[in-house]
Amino acid sequence: MEQQRKTILSGMQPSGELSIGHIAGALRNWVTLQHDFDSLFCVVDQHAITVQQEPAKLRKWTLDLVAMYQAAGVDPSKSVVFVQSHVPEHVQLAWILTCLTGMGECSRMTQFKDKSERHSDNINVGLFTYPILMAADILIYNADLVPVGEDQKQHLELARNLAERFNHRYSPTFTVPEPYIPKVGGRIMSLQEPTKKMSKSDPNMKASIFLTDSDDDIRNKIRRAVTDSGSDIRYDEQVRPGISNLMSLYHIATDKTFADIEAEFAGSTGYAPFKEAVGEAVAAYVRPIRERFLELRADEDSLRAIAKAGAEQARHRAWKVLRKVYKKTGFIEL
Ligand code: TYM
Repeated sequence: MEQQRKTILSGMQPSGELSIGHIAGALRNWVTLQHDFDSLFCVVDQHAITVQQEPAKLRKWTLDLVAMYQAAGVDPSKSVVFVQSHVPEHVQLAWILTCLTGMGECSRMTQFKDKSERHSDNINVGLFTYPILMAADILIYNADLVPVGEDQKQHLELARNLAERFNHRYSPTFTVPEPYIPKVGGRIMSLQEPTKKMSKSDPNMKASIFLTDSDDDIRNKIRRAVTDSGSDIRYDEQVRPGISNLMSLYHIATDKTFADIEAEFAGSTGYAPFKEAVGEAVAAYVRPIRERFLELRADEDSLRAIAKAGAEQARHRAWKVLRKVYKKTGFIEL
């Protein structure tokens, strides 16, 4: 039975605090999908160092994510939770894929272009080849589905191309993965500039709701969220990106549809009552995650044990695939 289940893999960078965007775009789907899929969730510490990191913070954030995945509902007895650098087969496969990737394919990546603008003093080769390592993360487990936010779509396209290229050049080896992007919440926007993605690297703390924010922080941030001119509550991403973003958050926190939300606030004057309701709902949604996180985070030994057990399972699977790939590539066995 276990053999017939399809596989999902996803990951997050330990490069800062997680925001409600991470939950909306990815984590929430991981939690649901883990019941029906053979699931692997990775903390991608090797991706994180494509931007300069302080070692102590990187260590802290890595364990934070092992705790946060569980706080959000990932169950390590159902899913394999592990840290990327513990499974060296990812970078081993990445090298082979690097030799199949054109320079042009990497330079077209919008995330590379954005990040090299933001970190113009550190445009390293790792930032450039980042999506190839991501392809290796996915292909080494023959993942069928990759639950991510919208910003990862282009990276997924490269993973698909590389799988097809390898299969064509050698022989069928890799599953061609599909992205799994939620219809609502695939791109949660900044509360301060609703035409920009909510991002953990945004220096403006008011722009993001972090999963460790207190109830009051959350209410205040939503109260002060930049909204559009007008006063009715109607979903329209183009004309009303601010209100539409808050509607998406409200949907995520309460499961109410956009039609329900529009009906709930029809005829209310101004945005204030709506913002109060969103603030309250999002605070109530984040509260149990934060509380569970703090509990789990206090027991570092358990987090390390989970990561260790996860790495053992992941390595076992990754090596089986890498061995085949090495053989097909023409590397002789040791
Ligand atoms: P990262 O660490 O930037 O983000 C982790 C996940 O959260 C989603 N996300 C969002 N979704 C909606 N709205 C937002 N504002 C928002 N911010 C973040 C991201 O889309 C992502 O799904 N390259 C990846 C990490 C990675 C990976 C992988 C993912 C490495 N290897 C293999 C899947 C499979 C990244 O930087 O995600």
